[in-house]
Amino acid sequence: MSLIDAYGRKHDYLRVSVTDRCNLRCIYCMSEEGIEQISHNEILCYEDMLKVIRTGTEMGITKIRVTGGEPLVRLGIVDFIREIAALPGVSDLAMTTNGILLPRYAAGLKTAGLKRINISLDSLKPLVYNSITRCGKLEDVLAGISAALENDLQPVKINVVLMKGINDGEVEDFLQLAREKPLHIRFIEYMPIGDHDHSYGNHYLPLSFVEETAKKAGLPLTPVPTYRGPGPADYYTLPGGKGMIGLIHAISKHFCSTCNRLRLTSEGNLKACLYWQEEKSVRPVIDNPDALKALFRKVLANKPAEHQMASDGRCGAVQPGTMRSMSKTGG
Ligand code: 5AD
Ligand code: SF4
Repeated sequence: MSLIDAYGRKHDYLRVSVTDRCNLRCIYCMSEEGIEQISHNEILCYEDMLKVIRTGTEMGITKIRVTGGEPLVRLGIVDFIREIAALPGVSDLAMTTNGILLPRYAAGLKTAGLKRINISLDSLKPLVYNSITRCGKLEDVLAGISAALENDLQPVKINVVLMKGINDGEVEDFLQLAREKPLHIRFIEYMPIGDHDHSYGNHYLPLSFVEETAKKAGLPLTPVPTYRGPGPADYYTLPGGKGMIGLIHAISKHFCSTCNRLRLTSEGNLKACLYWQEEKSVRPVIDNPDALKALFRKVLANKPAEHQMASDGRCGAVQPGTMRSMSKTGG
């Protein structure tokens, strides 16, 4: 029984947000005070999250990504990873993290069965990193990246949200980093989402800027057409590079037509699209596998063909006031 939607897209990927809390306050995600947190008892317990994941695997989900907020701030995360890894049908298990707590957790996560990891890093300059995250220390995330590489959580992917006037001067430094280390450095277009006071219009920069900078720096990007899964990134190699460059055109060339993902929010709502307001609580059906399957199908049946988020910050698919930050829905 596969999860195929009205547009013929097969869904085999479930992203699970385990918490809306975070130990950073990235400017493109949250306001300085942080998001309005949901109370602990509104967060779905791990046991119930596992029930949803198990049912998903019975319907064709094979890939799980654990996200947040920051997943490593939720207690018991390593055991949760171990339990997901033990489910038959899970062939890929990944995590998206800001990397701050990875020096402490990377080895345990690897042993528990985590396969690979995505780490957010928007600047290689300590002061700029600290001002983008409002409180993060660059040395912590760099230690986290080293811990991920040492523990073979490969490929280690680095997410860089490109922001005009903030980190656009560092593109070449990131390209050099992908030459020196076996990292997949993925530039992401700044999206008009999040619970913050947007300066979106001022900071959006299309990713063609990365290609132009690479050319000017004598590091032209060569597309790797075979390295193109249903995921959002187009991958490129660099002359003499150990790593790769990924470009995620969230806005200018969105990737909805190959979207294979469903999401479970930390409160326990199933959601078919990050930018679509509809979400349904799994709680009423959590102990009824048939009803849970019906819920999966219902959410999928209403999945939109694509989001209408435009580079001017409009988002036709989302009703005002329903725009959630990545920290609530899981990036
Ligand atoms: N625009 C682009 N990417 C974002 N992320 C979070 N908020 C935004 C946004 N407004 C991405 C970051 C982070 C991941 C969890 O989500 O790259 O790595
Ligand atoms: Fe935390 Fe990630 Fe949001 Fe930054 S982008 S505040 S690391 S949840």
